[in-house]
Amino acid sequence: MADQKLIVVLGATGNQGSSVVDTFLKDAAWRVRGLTRNPSSAKAKALSARGVEVVQADMDDVSSLSVAFRDANAIFVVSDFWGIYGALAQQEKGTGEKPLNLLAGETEFQQLKNAIDAASQVPGLERFILSTLSNVAKWSREKYTHVYHFDFKARASAYIEDKHQELWAKTSLFQAGLFLSTFVDSPSFMPRKAKSADISQIADGTAQFTTTMAPDVKLPWIAAEEDTGPFVKALVQEEPGKNLIAYREWATLREMVGAFQSASKTKSELVVVPRDEANEFLPPDLKLEIDEGFLYFEEFGYEGRDDATIVHPSQLKTPPELDTMEQYFRKVDLSRIFSA
Ligand SMILES: NC(=O)c1ccc[n+]([C@@H]2O[C@H](COP(=O)([O-])OP(=O)(O)OC[C@H]3O[C@@H](n4cnc5c(N)ncnc54)[C@H](OP(=O)(O)O)[C@@H]3O)[C@@H](O)[C@H]2O)c1
Repeated sequence: MADQKLIVVLGATGNQGSSVVDTFLKDAAWRVRGLTRNPSSAKAKALSARGVEVVQADMDDVSSLSVAFRDANAIFVVSDFWGIYGALAQQEKGTGEKPLNLLAGETEFQQLKNAIDAASQVPGLERFILSTLSNVAKWSREKYTHVYHFDFKARASAYIEDKHQELWAKTSLFQAGLFLSTFVDSPSFMPRKAKSADISQIADGTAQFTTTMAPDVKLPWIAAEEDTGPFVKALVQEEPGKNLIAYREWATLREMVGAFQSASKTKSELVVVPRDEANEFLPPDLKLEIDEGFLYFEEFGYEGRDDATIVHPSQLKTPPELDTMEQYFRKVDLSRIFSA
């Protein structure tokens, strides 16, 4: 349709971006261009088969972004701190003066600046949505200064405000809450069958979550691969200038485990481990990054609760209707978790 609007989606093959693709594909008023570094990957081909215009672009290459953003009415930008960290680790970078997580943050910041600079040049752009996170150093008043996967994203949103006023006037910020998928997919976070001397307990299959996070602090929980699209659609349709903390439930870790128990019908428990005894397998830079991050959530709020610009989903004009955490966990394959 000639009068369709165009949304360009970075990270279209990933959790957040794929959800944005799914949502906008369902709306005949929009056509979708999905960006990837590798259009011949299985995920990229699957997007093409569903009617997505797949275009090659790399956030390290601003000219590829300028071409890929052409004619966009809306752009969704997400960056991948952990992917960058993993790639740098493989190249055995970070053994010099700078720790690897700082290098990863600086790379992520440059990639986001590339996307922002390219978007600022798109003549007909109406809405720019940046996936970002809160500024830990700022909202903790410099108490925690090593949570780079948050802070460099926050610096990117500040960069738009400082350097690209015209783009800033079209921008809304999307802060994704904690991914529920992490707690069923990641070896460091997913539950295990309880290690107990009591054989009946093992047979009973108690699901034991182990954490260093405070168990009774309210946190934003999102199913990024399902909820990002509905939130981004609301942000595209509403007036710009929003700074959304996006979640399907605002709940404690203990409540999240309770939702897992109800959904899985498996006795589930949360074991809180002292920080000193946990994550010893992590390199020191990441242990500090994770420890400071969890302390920040506890003391200053995941979203930086003193940030007066924060908007919660219920404050949107058209808050999306999302499933619950329990509904999410009902879809989880328990045998996969317990055999891991
Ligand atoms: N886990 C959590 O609880 C949580 C919470 C909030 C925010 N986050 C943030 O979420 C981000 C990751 O987002 P996600 O989970 O949606 O992504 P993801 O599923 O890990 O996938 C990464 C996406 O980024 C694309 N990508 C990576 N490097 C690229 C580059 N140089 N140029 C173009 N595209 C590139 C990949 O595309 P191709 O491979 O196809 O090129 C892929 O689509 C991280 O920065 C993390 O900090 C995580």
